Order: sequence, then structure tokens, then C-alpha cells
Amino acid sequence: MNHIIAPSLLSADFGNLQRDIEMINRSEADWFHIDVMDGNFVPNISIGFPVLKAIAKHAKKPLDIHLMIVNPDFYIEQFCTEAKASYLTVHYEACTHLHRTIQTIKSYGVKVGVSLNPHSPVSLLEDIICEVDLVLLMSVNPGFGGQNFIEHTYKKIEQLKTLIEQSHAHALIEIDGGIGLSNYQSLIAAGANALVCGNSIFSTDNPVETIAKLKI
Ligand code: DX5
Ligand code: ZN
Repeated sequence: MNHIIAPSLLSADFGNLQRDIEMINRSEADWFHIDVMDGNFVPNISIGFPVLKAIAKHAKKPLDIHLMIVNPDFYIEQFCTEAKASYLTVHYEACTHLHRTIQTIKSYGVKVGVSLNPHSPVSLLEDIICEVDLVLLMSVNPGFGGQNFIEHTYKKIEQLKTLIEQSHAHALIEIDGGIGLSNYQSLIAAGANALVCGNSIFSTDNPVETIAKLKI
């Protein structure tokens, strides 16, 4: 399977959001990665439904929505319908009744992801791995773009790959944070299926070309 590149709109120019969305539309990127932060689960606030709806209107590729919010259950319907998520990812650390949350997301016909913070071990997913379409391993502490990649993530990819194989599960492995041209190939070699890249794409002079390089 070819790897997926999901540019993170968190690093886009929000004053020119439509321009940046159209850049991703015409690039070789596979998904849009969209970070929703509530100022509670993470120490930052990003975007809400008015902006998500505008993104959904212009984006022509699947929307990979990463919820860094407490109580995601309150808003699942809106993320699935108004925000038009293709993949909706919740944090393991934010869900008291994760099994129920996963079933609710599935009931909307939306693919479901579970994310682990850097401090959360892969073994936490043992009893849920067969229920999810994607596992998002955070390779930085969530909340901000442009942080340094945490090297321990490689070990977690290996552990997650083993867990998926042993459980005969089908989850994709997505990695988020500190990824760019210097490390994307080693992450794919380690077993990652999807890579989120924010700063490494949007800080370059030619983002379309950078995305093309990340697809090689
Ligand atoms: C961080 C977000 C990431 C972020 C990645 O909390 O989940 O998606 O945008 O940004 P970079 O690629 O710049 O580390
Ligand atoms: Zn993210």
C-alpha cells in the first residue's frame, strides 16, 4: 500500500484558508488533517464548526479530523454530518467510555480513529484494536505545530504493528507531529501508513513540491 500524506491545516494561513485548501486539492496529498482543540484537553484552541464547514465546502479530499477535546461524544453527530469527517479520531485519554464512542462514530458511517499521547502505551489498545480503522500515534505532545519529533515513537510503531498483526485487525497506523523530509521515509519503513505534516509543508516556498517529495 502506498503511504498517505495528510497535510495539517493547523499550519495553513487562516487568512488565506481557501487558497491553502485549493493548494492541497491540486497537490498529491491524500487527505486533509484537521486539528480541533478545545483549550482544555490541550493548552490551545484551534477551530470550531463555522470554519470546519467552510473547509468541507472547498476540500476535495477526505477529511481526517483529529479531536483534541474532552467529551467528544457531545459533538460526534456534528463532526460526522456538518463537518463531513471521513475519519474521526478521538483521544484514548479523553474517552471514559471509548467502546461506546467508537460505536457512535461508526453509526454515522464514518471511519473511526483512536489517538495515543506520547506517554500512553500501545498496550492500552489491546481490547479495542479490532474496532478501529486507524490508530494515530502522537509523536509530539498535542497542541501545537512545529515541535520536535519524539524518537520513542519508532518503538511504538513496532509495538502497534505487532498488536495489529496478532489481533488480525485492519487499523491504519498514522503518525502526527514533527514529520518532514528528513524522517518520513524511516517512518514508512517502520510501518506507518499515514503521515501528518504541518510545518514541514507550509513553511516551504513550494508546498506542492514538498508534498510531491513526501509522496516518493
Ligand atoms: C499537534 C497536531 C498536529 C500538528 C502537526 O497537536 O495534532 O497535527 O499540526 O504539526 P507539525 O507537522 O508541524 O508537527
Ligand atoms: Zn493532529
